[in-house]
Amino acid sequence: MSDQPLILGIETSCDETGVGLVRGTTLLANAVASSVDEHVRFGGVVPEVASRAHLEAMVPTLQRALAEAGASLDDVDAVAVTAGPGLAGALMVGVSAAKALAVALDKPLYGVNHLVGHVAAEQLENGPLTEPVVALLVSGGHTEILLVEDIATSATLLGQTLDDAAGEAFDKVARLIGLKYPGGPNIQRAAEEGDPAAIRFPRGLTSQRDLERHRYDFSFSGLKTAVARWVETAEREGRAVPVADVAAGFQEAVADVLTRKAVLACQERGISTMVLAGGVAANARLRDLTRERCAVAGIELRQPRFSLCTDNGAMIAALGAAVVERGLPPSSLDFASDSSLPVTQVLVG
Ligand code: KG4
Ligand code: ZN
Repeated sequence: MSDQPLILGIETSCDETGVGLVRGTTLLANAVASSVDEHVRFGGVVPEVASRAHLEAMVPTLQRALAEAGASLDDVDAVAVTAGPGLAGALMVGVSAAKALAVALDKPLYGVNHLVGHVAAEQLENGPLTEPVVALLVSGGHTEILLVEDIATSATLLGQTLDDAAGEAFDKVARLIGLKYPGGPNIQRAAEEGDPAAIRFPRGLTSQRDLERHRYDFSFSGLKTAVARWVETAEREGRAVPVADVAAGFQEAVADVLTRKAVLACQERGISTMVLAGGVAANARLRDLTRERCAVAGIELRQPRFSLCTDNGAMIAALGAAVVERGLPPSSLDFASDSSLPVTQVLVG
């Protein structure tokens, strides 16, 4: 194992400052500092606040990761960093730090794709993936179905949300029914007491017509509006809002449409492995329904532990390790971060 290069991974695309250390598919350290508490009163991530927090957290998080792995900077063989997609200012902090480290250590630098990184994280949990795989990525920032043909070189976007990300929908709906940010865990808790069949909320982009044009795409804005209307009507009529039932009905609608389309993608593309990742993958109902439907369809479901599902540096190190193992050329030192880096670009030049 120790003959494999030690890869340092840096992630700063949203509100988590992540630094990870990996050899091959072995996780050695995963240090994360989150600025989530600083965004609570705004009900969502504020880019400027996130960038500032990355700046402050970078060195302490790096030190924590090295301590956790029992390594020093001199042991690092290569540096990998999220080049995009993500918040422009936030990405810039990580990319600058990674460049500085690569120059100071005189080691190669790899700017990699955040989305593919989420998939690479799974390798740290259950060992090398057998590609191709379909990945369902669901977090506060993204909701995508990817087809990963080769983790180090080739990924395709099959579908994505046309409006809100799934986690964003959780956060917005939580607000509507008086629950705090981040909404996901609070909705899940409320839903445990509710009946998922009491209120049937719409499943976006699932009509026959929508499926023709947006087969693997998602839309959550109609669902969010439906919840808002439902709550408004109840209030107007002087009825108490059944928070638990609304939460359960909403959660069911999200889980249903996410899993239905991801399973469809696997079946239609002839893919037998699905990877579920992103912060919303923590949702118990989503996990259960995905497991259930994958089992029925004969699809193997792979899912990393929660700390590897949410944004972190280890996933970037894992992708860096795959790229290094393939002998691909490093990124140039003057590459720029790209807030809308397409998923087809696993490694930037
Ligand atoms: O991947 P992540 O930690 O970060 C970014 O998106 O940057 O995902 C955060 C999102 C939030 O929107 C949060 O509400 C959602 O994941 N989330 C959940 C749960 N835990 C976190 N959504 C549904 N159920 C959960 N248990
Ligand atoms: Zn992410």
